Amino acid sequence: MRLPVAELHLHLEGTLEPEFIMDAAARNGVVLPWRSLEELRSKYRFTDLQSFLDLLYVNLEVLHTRDDFEQMTRSYLRRAAAAGVRHAEASTDIQAHTRRGIPIEVVVDGVRAALDTSEDDYGITTKLIISFLRDRSPDEAVDVLTRLLASGARFDGIGLDSAEVGFPPSLFVGLYDLARANGLHVVAHAGEEGPPQYVADSLDLLQVERIDHGNRSLEDAHLVARLVAEQIPLTVCPLSNVRLRVVDDLEQHPIRRMLAHGLNVSVHSDDPAYFGGYIDDNIDAIVDRCGVTNDELARLARNSIDASFLDAEGKARLH
Ligand code: HPA
Ligand code: ZN
Repeated sequence: MRLPVAELHLHLEGTLEPEFIMDAAARNGVVLPWRSLEELRSKYRFTDLQSFLDLLYVNLEVLHTRDDFEQMTRSYLRRAAAAGVRHAEASTDIQAHTRRGIPIEVVVDGVRAALDTSEDDYGITTKLIISFLRDRSPDEAVDVLTRLLASGARFDGIGLDSAEVGFPPSLFVGLYDLARANGLHVVAHAGEEGPPQYVADSLDLLQVERIDHGNRSLEDAHLVARLVAEQIPLTVCPLSNVRLRVVDDLEQHPIRRMLAHGLNVSVHSDDPAYFGGYIDDNIDAIVDRCGVTNDELARLARNSIDASFLDAEGKARLH
């Protein structure tokens, strides 16, 4: 029996499996740089974050219709239910679609169609996070968020992802001010490839409620003490960390060290179709390869639920 968990760090575009990508390309008349499933499969070797993003952004161009976005989200939710996920806070990289001419409504309506029936269909409650690409202009991000707010689209929070180094949180103060002024939750990727200072700046300048990844915080004892004192949730993704070379191998993953420090960590899947697995695969991997104990697993599961944006009643239902 799997413990009930909340998935808090999940990029919907990162759930597109190779078969889905090839089928959607054929359906939508998109010419991909690869001719076969085998050729596509051979591309899933990454040297760093950027090498992965290059593949992610090409593959997501197969998404064209509202139905494509709905099917992407449904496929994920179906798989997540089997992994023990009871609540999912999924994100979409909306600018990766708007920049190639896909209307905001096509993305949001498609994703929402699957999220809105998720509790009945899959037993998973959901929230939607709109993630902004930090390697595109902050003005574009503010413009997209402004249009999203005006459209009446239902979403719960914003995030910040894509290439990290050289794109510090300070660039996005206006975006986060706008989000918070509109009652949205706020999270940001930080400390995956970027320095510990980006984690501190995400807290101080963007006032985020959670940090996605946060691994490099461990390089700064002062920051670790602060994260522990304030119990800031870090959404850690072990298989992603190995595939993107944030850690050398799974045996070296710091998840147990993070728990021992008293950090508020939980385990998530990031881009499961690219990194070798969903939340259950991540959990099994840290048990097998890092020696995570049953007590630690229970703590990680509890942390995932407590770090969610569910209200107290919603959290109590999952504990
Ligand atoms: N980091 C940054 N950007 C991303 C990621 C990630 O792990 N996944 C999808 N976009
Ligand atoms: Zn991520």
